[in-house]
Amino acid sequence: MNEHSNSGNPDAPKRLIIVSNRLPVVFERQDGALTFRSGSGGLVTALAPVLRDRGGMWIGWSGLSDSQQEEVNTVLKDSSTASGYELAAVPLSEEELELYYHGFSNEIVWPLFHDLQSHCHFVPEYWHAYQRVNRKFAEQVFAETRSTDYIWVHDYHLMSVAYELRTMGVNAPLGFFLHIPFPPPDIFIKLPWRFQILRALLEYDLIGFQTVRDKRNFIQCVRMLLKDVSVRSTGGFHLCTTEHREVRIGVFPISIDYNEFERLARSREVSEAAWYIHEDLPHQQIVLGIDRLDYTKGIPYRLKAFRNALRRFPELQESMTLVQVVVPSRTDIPKYNDLKVEIERLVSEINGEFTRSGWVPIHYIFRHLTRTELLAYYRTAEIALITPIKDGMNLVSKEYCACNIEKNGVLILSEFAGAVSQLQKNALLVNPYDIEGVAEALHQAFTMNYAERGRRMRQLRVTVKRNDIYHWVESFLGAAISRDLSDYPLMTEYIPDQENVFGTSV
Ligand code: G6P
Repeated sequence: MNEHSNSGNPDAPKRLIIVSNRLPVVFERQDGALTFRSGSGGLVTALAPVLRDRGGMWIGWSGLSDSQQEEVNTVLKDSSTASGYELAAVPLSEEELELYYHGFSNEIVWPLFHDLQSHCHFVPEYWHAYQRVNRKFAEQVFAETRSTDYIWVHDYHLMSVAYELRTMGVNAPLGFFLHIPFPPPDIFIKLPWRFQILRALLEYDLIGFQTVRDKRNFIQCVRMLLKDVSVRSTGGFHLCTTEHREVRIGVFPISIDYNEFERLARSREVSEAAWYIHEDLPHQQIVLGIDRLDYTKGIPYRLKAFRNALRRFPELQESMTLVQVVVPSRTDIPKYNDLKVEIERLVSEINGEFTRSGWVPIHYIFRHLTRTELLAYYRTAEIALITPIKDGMNLVSKEYCACNIEKNGVLILSEFAGAVSQLQKNALLVNPYDIEGVAEALHQAFTMNYAERGRRMRQLRVTVKRNDIYHWVESFLGAAISRDLSDYPLMTEYIPDQENVFGTSV
């Protein structure tokens, strides 16, 4: 039985409880029996050692339907032996998944927070299901935890968990990190449940955003909509004082396990795979795009920019190949399928226009890559073309830099990716909507000499290495647990200027 009455020893080391929509594991069936293996994402890599050291638990949805919950629970019972910390699955019914996950999370919050209100379906049932499922997560957290634990909730699916826990009488400090952007007030106020969401978020004690832009948007929404909340800024963070608590708002840009990416990129397996990729594309500069299938990634604009570059700079024809990898995602949502159709139409139009004997301009891959394939593309591509129309961070840009051990790659990066606030000095920055500007950036990257490529890439790698995922975990937990306010990193905001954005100066 847990104790939420604060009767626990205050000096006892805090266990860490991570709560996210998905558990960081992949379930598989082998000979009919359910098994699971640890996921390979950066978040789990960074948090696993902390969970093992402090003891702790990860609470989330298994990714399977609740009809398999009993089997999931049996398999997870021994999870701490395999992963060093406990895993607890929140069962979700088909209906809950439809309304809470596909509906509220991915047909309202996801598009709205990426500034695409025209993609939103403001269905009241979605909101009711979101509240019910957030309560369900909170109930499980309540049942599994003690008052001395530190509870850290992740991402847009679970913005109301703190509110539900407070309703159950939990007073413990609660942290929240939003992995996606937070929209400006003009967009946020379109949300029919704007007051409830803002007030729910202010039930956390610490809220972390990816960039200064997101924090500023959130603060402006609070100032505009919640007149009873006072807001003040102190150094690297803001303090919102509500009737019940002081909520600290900070910026913690997420990152990758740099050393691990670099180590694997140097491995023999990856080196060989990289060699074969270029062997099959002789005398070509490879331009790489890797994205989940998502309308926020700007893939159609990117393809049009590539076409524009081939038309305006004929010397690129037969000398540059775009490898566009699209990883299937959320395919049950109609907008995602529409996007797939649009991408495939554009790819075939462009290939139809330019293909010559021995050269196909776009190699299009629609599937999950193996880790070796992914790293080999990162290592060997001369140019990474990363042009989301809006992105919380974009880890692909950081992974590309970590794997570019020859230091001859050029990073073309959207000024609307969170990563721009850290990588702006040495990437070629583009406005992803500006097809001609992106085409010019492609041409500049193609013709950039090796001395300049090396200089830029070395700097990019230093920046990513210094601010890796371990640094992110330490900064957030440092701020959360020690409450030492000097732990807040000071961040600057990226503002486009005439000098470094394509399309304004070229
Ligand atoms: C984004 C979100 C994550 C989410 C991931 C994959 O990165 O911030 O929370 O897990 O997309 O999306 P999915 O819907 O498959 O979980």
